[in-house]
Amino acid sequence: ILVPLNLDTTDGEAALELPRAPRIGPAVAFGYPQQAGSTATRAVVSLQELTGVLSAYQWYINGVEVPALGQKIHPGYGTFLPTRHEYVDLVAKAPLNTTELAFDIGTGTGVLAAILVARGVKTVIGTDIHQRAVDCANDNFARLAIDDSARAELTSMFPAGRAPLVICNPPWLPGSAPTTLDAAVYDPGSKMLLQFLRGLPEHLTTHGEGWLIISDLAELLGLRSRHLLLDAIDDAGLEVVDRLDTLPTHGRAKDDADILHAARSREVTSLWRLRVKA
Ligand SMILES: C[S@@+](CC[C@H](N)C(=O)[O-])C[C@H]1O[C@@H](n2cnc3c(N)ncnc32)[C@H](O)[C@@H]1O
Repeated sequence: ILVPLNLDTTDGEAALELPRAPRIGPAVAFGYPQQAGSTATRAVVSLQELTGVLSAYQWYINGVEVPALGQKIHPGYGTFLPTRHEYVDLVAKAPLNTTELAFDIGTGTGVLAAILVARGVKTVIGTDIHQRAVDCANDNFARLAIDDSARAELTSMFPAGRAPLVICNPPWLPGSAPTTLDAAVYDPGSKMLLQFLRGLPEHLTTHGEGWLIISDLAELLGLRSRHLLLDAIDDAGLEVVDRLDTLPTHGRAKDDADILHAARSREVTSLWRLRVKA
C-alpha cells in the first residue's frame, strides 16, 4: 500500500492528503533528512515504511532509558536500539584495563562508548559504516555532554592507530542485511565478527584488551558454531583472558509463543576479554 505525501504545504512540512490526518511532517523530516531542499511537491511512501518512520520518531523523541548509564539514549532512524540491557551491563561491569583511550567498533547509537566515558575513559572513538549511526552517536554524545571525550566517525571497522581497549558488539546473527537496521542485527557470513578478531592485534597496544560482546543465539539456531568462534580467536593470534556471561532479561526470552523461544530461553550473552597471545 503506497501512501501519497504532499510536500508542497505552506509550512514546508510533508503532510498526508487525508482529512483529519495526523501531523507527520517532523517524523518524515527525521526519517528522510536528505529530502530537505528537494523541489519535489509530491511523493509516495509504503504504508509499512511510514509506520516504521513514525514509530522510530517516537523512540527518538522519547529516548531509551539505559539503566547502566542512568540516562537516555536517543536512537536515530535505522540505528540499532539498545533496548536489551544485559549486554550494556556487561560493558558497565567488566574489569577496565584503561582510562586513557578506547575504540568502539560499530558504535550505533554510541551507547557503549557512553558507558566507557561514564566509567572514566578519557577518550573514546566510535566507528560505524552508516552515516545515520555516526550522526546519531555524535548527537547522543552532545546530549550527554560527553562530546569532548567521545566522538564517532564514518569508518569501516577500526580507526587509525592503536588503543589499550577495543570493544565491538557486532550483529549477532549471520544473514543478509538489505537495510541499515538489518545490518545492525545480521552480519553476512559473520564478516564483521571475523574482521574484528583478525584486526585486533594490529589495533591493540601492548597488553591491550579486545572486548567482543556477542550472544550464542546463532549457535543455538545452528547458524554458526562455537568452533568457528574459538578457531577465529586462535587463528587471529588471540587468547581468551576471561568470559563474562549473562542471561537475557528481555520479554521475548520468556515468551513461549515466540517461534524462537526454545533458543531464546537458553541464550547466553557474553563479553569475551581477548588479548594478543603471549
Ligand atoms: C549490533 S549493532 C551495535 C551497536 C552499538 N554498539 C550497541 O551496542 O548498541 C552493530 C553496529 O555495527 C555497525 N557496522 C556493521 N558493519 C560495520 C563495519 N564494517 N564497520 C563499522 N561498523 C559496522 C552497524 O551499522 C551497527 O551500528
